[in-house]
Amino acid sequence: MAILYPIAAVARLAAQSLAASQPSAAGEVDWNTAPLPSLLDHLITRRHDYLRHEMPLLTELVARVHRVYSVRHPGELDGLPQVFESLRAELQSHLETEELLLFPAIRLQVRDRETGAVAEPIGVGGLAQTIARMEYEHEGAEAAMRRIREVTNGYAIPHHACATYRALILGLQALEADIRHHIHLENDILHPRVLAL
Ligand SMILES: [Fe+2]
Ligand SMILES: [Fe+2]
Repeated sequence: MAILYPIAAVARLAAQSLAASQPSAAGEVDWNTAPLPSLLDHLITRRHDYLRHEMPLLTELVARVHRVYSVRHPGELDGLPQVFESLRAELQSHLETEELLLFPAIRLQVRDRETGAVAEPIGVGGLAQTIARMEYEHEGAEAAMRRIREVTNGYAIPHHACATYRALILGLQALEADIRHHIHLENDILHPRVLAL
């Protein structure tokens, strides 16, 4: 039996999730060489805004699906609401730290480098510590996603799953792909480029 949920909204969620997780090959910028402020803009308008849009939708789907299927199929999706809520709260705080603290500090460093106003290397200051803290939090997000993968049996869609359940699994899978790309852009490109300024 299907959970009552507008089917159009379910389909839209799955489509948006999948589309947002797939960067277009044709229009993809080389972030190793693009200006750092452009990379920061991309992280905010594509990666952060994606999370801000998807997390509330997925939070609702997690609650609806778990409420029904944990009764009908005891043990199924056990622990999912808890680990997802933990990930949601950690990400919310993480994005705020990046947008209010780290990214503005990087923009200032870039501007000062361009004008020759700064003599101190970044690596010895607070920026390096903030970057280390962000990478530690990325490890926490990766651990939460591993747990989500476990409790969904590797994003398996059981034969008894309704449309809402399917949308949830597709949404969680797309979320993991998006977060992994997001972390790659920050850990492997943004942070080394900033520390090398
Ligand atoms: Fe970020
Ligand atoms: Fe981050």
